[in-house]
Amino acid sequence: MRIRWCAPMAVQTACMVLGIVTPCLAQAMPGIIPQPVKMAIQDGHFHISSDTRVAASGDARQETTKLIDFLAPAMGLRLALLDQPTPDSNLIQLLLVSPPDNTLGEEGYELQVTPQSIRIRANKPAGLFNAIQSLRQLLPPAIFSPQKAEQTQWSVPCVRITDAPRFGWRGLLIDPARHFIPVQDVKHFLDTMAIHKFNRLQIHLTDDCGWRIEIRKHPELTQIGSRMDFTEMQSAAPAAANSRFGGFYTQEDIRDLVRYAARLHIMLIPEIEMPAHTGAAIVSCPQLGLYPQKLAALSSDQRWKAHEWVLAPRPESVAFMSEVLAEVMELFPSPYIHIGGDEANIVHWKQSDEMQDLIRQLGLKDETELHSWFIRQLDAFLTRHGRRLVGWDEILQGGLAPGAVVMSWRGQEGGITAAKAGHAVVMAPTSHTYFDFYQGPAASEPRAIGGDLPLEKVFVFEPIPPVLHAGQAKLILGGQGQLWGEFIPNPKHRDYMAYPRAAALAEILWSPKADRTIEQFLPRLKDHLKRLDAAQVHYRPLK
Ligand code: ACM
Repeated sequence: MRIRWCAPMAVQTACMVLGIVTPCLAQAMPGIIPQPVKMAIQDGHFHISSDTRVAASGDARQETTKLIDFLAPAMGLRLALLDQPTPDSNLIQLLLVSPPDNTLGEEGYELQVTPQSIRIRANKPAGLFNAIQSLRQLLPPAIFSPQKAEQTQWSVPCVRITDAPRFGWRGLLIDPARHFIPVQDVKHFLDTMAIHKFNRLQIHLTDDCGWRIEIRKHPELTQIGSRMDFTEMQSAAPAAANSRFGGFYTQEDIRDLVRYAARLHIMLIPEIEMPAHTGAAIVSCPQLGLYPQKLAALSSDQRWKAHEWVLAPRPESVAFMSEVLAEVMELFPSPYIHIGGDEANIVHWKQSDEMQDLIRQLGLKDETELHSWFIRQLDAFLTRHGRRLVGWDEILQGGLAPGAVVMSWRGQEGGITAAKAGHAVVMAPTSHTYFDFYQGPAASEPRAIGGDLPLEKVFVFEPIPPVLHAGQAKLILGGQGQLWGEFIPNPKHRDYMAYPRAAALAEILWSPKADRTIEQFLPRLKDHLKRLDAAQVHYRPLK
């Protein structure tokens, strides 16, 4: 069999460089997103049919079942699963390697397709899963259809792929606080993330206009705090309380989502915002506010517009939020718990005699130190429980526990400072990762929050700032795209804002940086959009 090595980032060029004069098979090769690290394209195809068997043993079996599940709807058949590989051909084999292959890490894999068999090797189940995502993309796009497709030939081109991600944190954020996102829509979003090998979903569960997670110890948080959304808050005539949409996740819903995401090797990371963006909590539990008596005297409907948008960081509020986080930790196995920490209007603390007294009692200098004190209390609580606090870059002021992770959103400066101080960092700058920004001229786009973030700009995002030396660069865990929900009221619109920008981000976070160009990305993206069509993802068409 002739083997044509084609460098992934410049397939045609590589064929020329290596002196291969026959037309490169890359033209017929489906473009994979994110681009694998190394692909050697070979002649021939493997044909998947009802006679094809899948073989795996031990922990690999679970991933194999997922492969069968992924293929079944469009093919209209379930492939048979064997315990042991047979010497026959027409076999797909998944294998966990032991001892581990250091080049593959936790999430990498090898995928070899010949006319006789498909062999997948990885150190860990996550690697097998990632290989399955590449294999799906090697099949005709119709394989992504949730119903039986008209396609009858399911051919996979022969190829050898060796692949592993550049970053371990490849995330997106969704915001059910602003507009509630029903469980089935979160699942749809997770399914599309998996196609792109994303592995973190931050879920912004609480904000001024909604508290979206059931907390048994404080049922008022959802009884009152879930009954509003951004649209209603903006409206001059908000809907009557008993006809509002609102919504929240029961604890059983959360368990269901955590399980669903884990099956796709996606870690669900909860975000419980504090001390600002806590309006819904304050409306529900006036004791958290700066002026509890004033709020408690009002009906809950009147309270929505009468609070200070930032809680009072009393020790009692620390205790309250610790109780909330205790239940959150029971539900989310994630080692990371995000507590927000951004955009606190501490002028309100300056104007409060009680907060000024508190600052003096705690021996602090000012409101900024009070903010840090509050964050550090929650940091200590989470650390005691074996979890790592994550917060937006405002949490940096005043010092943090060594395990805390900083999410840099106001540019990359916060991330640079954090990495220099020895903290792990996720880069999530507005400039390149805010997918609630416009992606084309505002006049021809649906209403967005503002900004300007076309696809091409996402594609030039570089999570590692050049000012960091190699040791500091290792602290950059990866990056994350944000889909804040103020102007994202439904799943179709969420798809529109996310894709194809998130496809570009997936490539930035997975594929090697060298040789990356938009010119070689766009033709692959065109192939890829056919997959998203089949998967019923309502992306923004290329203009
Ligand atoms: C943020 O966008 N306020 C983190």
